[in-house]
Amino acid sequence: MGTGRTIPGVLYSTAESSSKLNPRLAQLQPYPFQKLQALFEGITPNQDFSPVNLHIGEPRHATSAFISQALSEHIAGLAHYPTTLGNSSLRSSIASWLARRYRLPDLDPETQVLPVNGSREGLFSIAQAIIDPSAPQAMVACPNPFYQIYEGAAILAGAAPSFLNTLPEDDFALDFAQLSDDAWSHTQLAYVCSPANPTGKILSEEEWRRLFELSDRYGFVIAADECYSEIHFEGDVPPSGALEMAHRLGRTGYPRLLAFNSLSKRSNVPGMRSGFVAGDASLLEKFLLYRTYHGSAMSPAVQAASEAAWNDESHVAENRRLYQEKFIAVIDALVDTLPVSRPDAGFYLWMKTPISDVIFARKLYHDYNVTVLPGTYLARYSHGINPGENFVRMALVEPLAECIEAAARIKMLVSCL
Ligand SMILES: Cc1ncc(COP(=O)(O)O)c(C=O)c1O
Repeated sequence: MGTGRTIPGVLYSTAESSSKLNPRLAQLQPYPFQKLQALFEGITPNQDFSPVNLHIGEPRHATSAFISQALSEHIAGLAHYPTTLGNSSLRSSIASWLARRYRLPDLDPETQVLPVNGSREGLFSIAQAIIDPSAPQAMVACPNPFYQIYEGAAILAGAAPSFLNTLPEDDFALDFAQLSDDAWSHTQLAYVCSPANPTGKILSEEEWRRLFELSDRYGFVIAADECYSEIHFEGDVPPSGALEMAHRLGRTGYPRLLAFNSLSKRSNVPGMRSGFVAGDASLLEKFLLYRTYHGSAMSPAVQAASEAAWNDESHVAENRRLYQEKFIAVIDALVDTLPVSRPDAGFYLWMKTPISDVIFARKLYHDYNVTVLPGTYLARYSHGINPGENFVRMALVEPLAECIEAAARIKMLVSCL
């Protein structure tokens, strides 16, 4: 028996008392939004202002009717168990999308593409499938700041996360020399995110070349998170992708490389839970085996709607236009007040704060009823610093008028500091 705390009539079951629980669960950090909730506890925001929520990266633009229609037209599919591999027509649509988008030679939809239930599910489960926790000091490299799923995936798979800080003085580029040769030699998996959440940074060809060299030397797998790849700006070359770079650098068959993408941001369907993983066929064969047990097959109706979404680009262009409009307006409103600039891509403004990010976020909520996420909640203390310190992340997901209103309130806040 553990040391469960009891009061009359109530038995508390705590992690401490449940000695049979997986001890790795105790290492997981609360999610950034839980930390934000704790930060705001006891605060009543100024009721003179309506709430504007920019802390969470949930797309709010409307889902296109043709996607909802495809979903409802295939609802009868709920009567069947889907296969983990998914329909070949969905995999073919994804393979064709990849070939078109990244100017790739045709991928084999039978062996080089798998559907996943959102990139989050795929990014998490790949670590469970490939990490060997019996290896001494198994490590998973992550950018910092980063999407917290990478860290949880590493820990639950029995590895330790190691961090590559991305800093404003390096224009948020990845500096692989931050990890020692010894650390790289224990690395089994490296997550990269391009365009990055929260910085919006796109990996350069030179960063890819260096990462591929390290993967060749030390044998780790690269999981490239590309879920913001389609949220880019008019007139820019669309963000390059992992498979594109591998192809350009002559890496036939994409050895040890897996790219993850999603319809959530591209097509405004975060609730549909639909994405894919593509790349190294031998890894995908093993991942498919893992997933069969994990029970992560995609609903047939979602598969049909996903196929429709991957086959259409016009709704994505409209989606981009809406974000672009918001970036122009918000940056225009803030540029005289704070050092803001347009990111390479994505829908986040990673904004430097004149005071502590945590205090800034708290004051902005208290005084002006605007929620943004403190940068320190999105990063870990590593190499002597928390690279999220004195930054906040604003997701430009609310309608244009609300985003402009939030910018005006931020100006008011800064003018009073
Ligand atoms: C960097 C990053 N990767 C992956 C995801 C997961 O997205 P989804 O599972 O909806 O594809 C998110 C969601 O916010 C994200 O920000």
